[in-house]
Amino acid sequence: MSVKIEELKKQLKGLNSDYAKIKDVPAAKRAAFGKELNAKKQQILDQITKLEQAALDADVKPIDITAPTAPNQPIPQLMTSDHGSRHPLMTELDRVIEIYQLMGFDIVESRQLDDEFHMFDSLNFPKDHPARGDYDTFRTEEGFIPPAHTSTMQNRVLKAYKHNLEQGKAIAVAVPGRVFRNEDIDATHEHTLYQCEGVYVSTDCNLGQMLGILREFFERYFGQTLKIRTQPGFFPFTEPSLEFLIEKPKSIGGKGAGWLEMLGCGMIHPNVLKMAGIDPEKYHGFAWGGGIDRLAMLRYGLSDIRYFESGKLRFLKEFK
Ligand code: DAH
Repeated sequence: MSVKIEELKKQLKGLNSDYAKIKDVPAAKRAAFGKELNAKKQQILDQITKLEQAALDADVKPIDITAPTAPNQPIPQLMTSDHGSRHPLMTELDRVIEIYQLMGFDIVESRQLDDEFHMFDSLNFPKDHPARGDYDTFRTEEGFIPPAHTSTMQNRVLKAYKHNLEQGKAIAVAVPGRVFRNEDIDATHEHTLYQCEGVYVSTDCNLGQMLGILREFFERYFGQTLKIRTQPGFFPFTEPSLEFLIEKPKSIGGKGAGWLEMLGCGMIHPNVLKMAGIDPEKYHGFAWGGGIDRLAMLRYGLSDIRYFESGKLRFLKEFK
């Protein structure tokens, strides 16, 4: 406390003896005496308040609002050598995105809450068709749907890139994103996973080009040449629909025997193009979608998909 404040507080105390004298003052002068004392007391109190506020103001240092910790405190040392690391799925997602970018695709991220139109109607699922039930979706109380696949973005991407077609260019977009399924969870099924969708539309594209793009993608991803195969599939949003398989990559210990189903694909159904305002008589497209978790499992030789969402540090530390 400053000397000045201490002095004032002493004066304040001194007033007490004056107050004690009030009773001895003749009645006629008592009121004036009391009034004068009160005024003196108030004056001292005001001075003290003023000085104390000035002292506080002098003590305030400017705050660095960009400081990563409490203002003006030294950054605390971490108490552990256990620094965090990148989640392996994020690394895988980056690898996938980079390959598509190098192949000339634009990247559009999917959303984590969608609606009935994008999940089903825009993808040519007939109303009340059992195919809707094939996708075990979650729903919010308001009726929104955490998307069960990245195909929910097809309608948006087609609409947003339609101008490419008008300018004589193709639409070539890859859509990575997080998807959700109301699954019974086991070693190969998770309720939350990542997918990447591919959408390509031009005046003259065909299935042969799609297979070429997909082979190129997987060969770049696994860093080796690969044999590919297709088998018939069913998706309401493609016609024809295919499942795309690759031979077991050597880089992950495959002995060349056996095929791995990597994704669903096909020629985009004319109704899907129409619903995005693209004339299916003039333009054709193909699309595909597959899991990123599956790719990461193959790369690292993991046998249980549940590790990714488990938050187990012992697992995550393996990827530092
Ligand atoms: N969305 C499908 C799924 O998750 C996969 C798929 C199939 C995507 C065919 C496509 C496609 O774009 O054309 O099961």
